[in-house]
Amino acid sequence: MKKVRNKPLPFEFPGGNWYDKEEQQAALKVIKNKSPFRYYGPKCTFEVEKFEKEFAKFIGTKYALGVNSGTQALAVAMAALGIGPGAEVIIPGYMWIAIPASILRLGAIPVLAEIDDTFTLDPEDIEKRITKRTKLIVVVHMSGAPADMKRILKISKKYDIPVLEDCSQAIGGEIDGKKLGSFGTIGTYSFQLNKILGTGEGGMVVTNSLHFFRRADAIHDLGYPRVNGRLITKNTPYALWGFGGRMNEITGAIGRVQLKKVPKIIKAMKKAKDTIKKGIADIPEIKFRRIVDEKGDTGAFLILILPDAKIARRFAEEMNKENLYAGLSKIMRVCEFGMHIYYNIHSLVEKHSNSPDGFPWTLEANKESIYSYHKGTLPRSDELMEKSIMIPVPSVMTEKDIEDVIKGIHIIAKRLF
Ligand SMILES: Cc1ncc(COP(=O)(O)O)c(C=O)c1O
Repeated sequence: MKKVRNKPLPFEFPGGNWYDKEEQQAALKVIKNKSPFRYYGPKCTFEVEKFEKEFAKFIGTKYALGVNSGTQALAVAMAALGIGPGAEVIIPGYMWIAIPASILRLGAIPVLAEIDDTFTLDPEDIEKRITKRTKLIVVVHMSGAPADMKRILKISKKYDIPVLEDCSQAIGGEIDGKKLGSFGTIGTYSFQLNKILGTGEGGMVVTNSLHFFRRADAIHDLGYPRVNGRLITKNTPYALWGFGGRMNEITGAIGRVQLKKVPKIIKAMKKAKDTIKKGIADIPEIKFRRIVDEKGDTGAFLILILPDAKIARRFAEEMNKENLYAGLSKIMRVCEFGMHIYYNIHSLVEKHSNSPDGFPWTLEANKESIYSYHKGTLPRSDELMEKSIMIPVPSVMTEKDIEDVIKGIHIIAKRLF
């Protein structure tokens, strides 16, 4: 039987797909200047510093700090907020392994909360998870679209608990024209290749608090502040412990070029996603993920909610058979999306430790924080993720690619419904 397409859709590397001479020249300049270190060098042009300033302006926060990955950004941000043993951190069940990894690395305990049909933290469930040990709420703007920040911030205020926004999958996303990452106490980003701004490796921490910025700045480096690139080794409140997470100048230079392209990339993804949504809106069995602010969606992913888990599994299989997937990313149900799902993370479910003493699960300070991470812990999220499928929306889709997706989904719907 003839397939809808004879080859898959383009790869889904939003930022990476837009590399051209500009990124090449930016990287080459740093190499020609023999100055890949951000604080000094024979002819340092301070690309990371410029990137930080431009990124802070783009997001609308006072401060931004470049780091070497999104994982590092999370750990640095949490450490800057003082997260450690005895602290509980509320996280959604749909996230990425780097989030519990960062919490546990600092000696604190992750506490799972349900997601709702936005596929991000369910504000109603957060309140049920708060204890006297809760020290942070981590909001993850998953799969390109925003969480309901207004409602989440109300809870944060009511209980006086800070909010960390992980915007790794929604760089440039907004609510009411305000950029994600600027709502909470602190925001983090990843610039890994699958992200909207891609430098291969890299990340950013943003905040409006000078105090948290100064702590993050010291912690991401050697544990001490710097002035004009030189360490201040005096005994001050910012003499801490470092993570060795600095961003290098090549990353900074590429990041600056990519940042300028973010609006174009988002525009392309949104256009493709909107066209597909409109094109399949006539199929009553298909429901869409709820988007808190359609205008602020980055368009990176389309999530379809199907009548049940069995149909969702078959729908994904049919889409793959018809080559309606991007690059190597086969269409799957959300629940199959690897270590984005709490119960797929064995080290979390089984409470593994990197050290023989079971740190931090076994710490005296954490003795009251005993929680489950097995499948079934979040029944509403489990059900939703089992009956939904993820469709990546590459930013370089042609009109023909978009037409194929619409046509293919209609053909599959006819087969299954
Ligand atoms: C939501 C989220 N947070 C954090 C990260 C970690 O970023 P990195 O791979 O740059 O460490 C990623 C992506 O990989 C992510 O998707």
